[in-house]
Amino acid sequence: MKMNQPMIKVVSSGKYVPSTLITNEDLEKLVETSDEWIMTRTGIKTRHKAVDELTSEMAVKAAEDAIKRVNYDVSKIDLIVMATITGDQMTPSTANFIQAKLGLVHEVMSFDINAACTGFVYGLEVAAALLQTGRFRAALVIGGETLTKIVDYTDRNTCILFGDGAGAMIIEPATQERNKAYFFNAARGDLNNTLTVVSKIKMDGKKVYQFAVDAMQQAIQKVLDDAGLLVEDIDMIIPHQANERIIQSVSKSMSIPMEKFMLNLSEYGNTSAASIPITISEYFDKNETKNKKILLVGFGGGFTWGSAILQL
Ligand code: UT7
Repeated sequence: MKMNQPMIKVVSSGKYVPSTLITNEDLEKLVETSDEWIMTRTGIKTRHKAVDELTSEMAVKAAEDAIKRVNYDVSKIDLIVMATITGDQMTPSTANFIQAKLGLVHEVMSFDINAACTGFVYGLEVAAALLQTGRFRAALVIGGETLTKIVDYTDRNTCILFGDGAGAMIIEPATQERNKAYFFNAARGDLNNTLTVVSKIKMDGKKVYQFAVDAMQQAIQKVLDDAGLLVEDIDMIIPHQANERIIQSVSKSMSIPMEKFMLNLSEYGNTSAASIPITISEYFDKNETKNKKILLVGFGGGFTWGSAILQL
């Protein structure tokens, strides 16, 4: 049976990262580690840290960046999907705060989703499916995190990895075949506390690493198969930025050249749900995007994993 794939137009994308940096040298002062260990094991050099800034405030700045780039008529936005594990508070949702801070006083459906580092890919599929109903004119899909507030800076296994930031995308329903989007999202409940946050992040890095490599490979292959495409048809793969070695491993085992993966984790570290939209925004900055196909692939706590192919 042919699946009913949503057709969406990617209108714009934007990002925001706070200006304060945490360098590897800063971390050397907190835990027993070294710039050399962090660089060779992860590829991370710096991460950004939100000082007195809420997740919703960074998300609004990322959204405003996306809006400004195309001078978007915000009265068209009637759906906001916010992916985060570090929302401002339990309720209202961070998406509600974003809506208010953007000054959207017309009727908007806005809510958060939690799928850890896969959150943005989940959010995109949810928003695309809702747009397909014909009930909404435009969706703002955002991934934003203030992970530094849940990092345990005495745990060298995790504190070297995470940073803060936000990325946003505006999408509209489309009617042309060329705007078909393809999604694959999945989860497998894990009760072994492999990657959890009760108050601070706790992770069995080795187990997550192995899961990540398998999940990325499966998600890339699955969405390519569903779209009837080969990896050669894809202009850029935008992976969740967790560890450069995870991406190198997938590149090697799937024989996909490293140049096909867009990387920026040396500057931002792992920003969970924000990493993919921040990277998409940088892809838009650096490339002529017309008629390009991008493949997004995420994985994270849950376990969750997922992928999408967007035709720009
Ligand atoms: O967003 C999705 C969630 N997260 C991920 O995708 C992360 C997945 N995992 C990873 O990226 C890697 O497993 C880590 C970067 C977390 C760790 O790298 P690794 O190569 O798997 O190291 P390891 O855990 O096997 O540790 C090797 C050694 C250990 O020492 P011993 O037991 O061999 O003496 C660790 O204690 O490295 C030690 N170590 C460190 N040494 C210096 C662990 N963290 C550090 C550190 N600095 N920061």
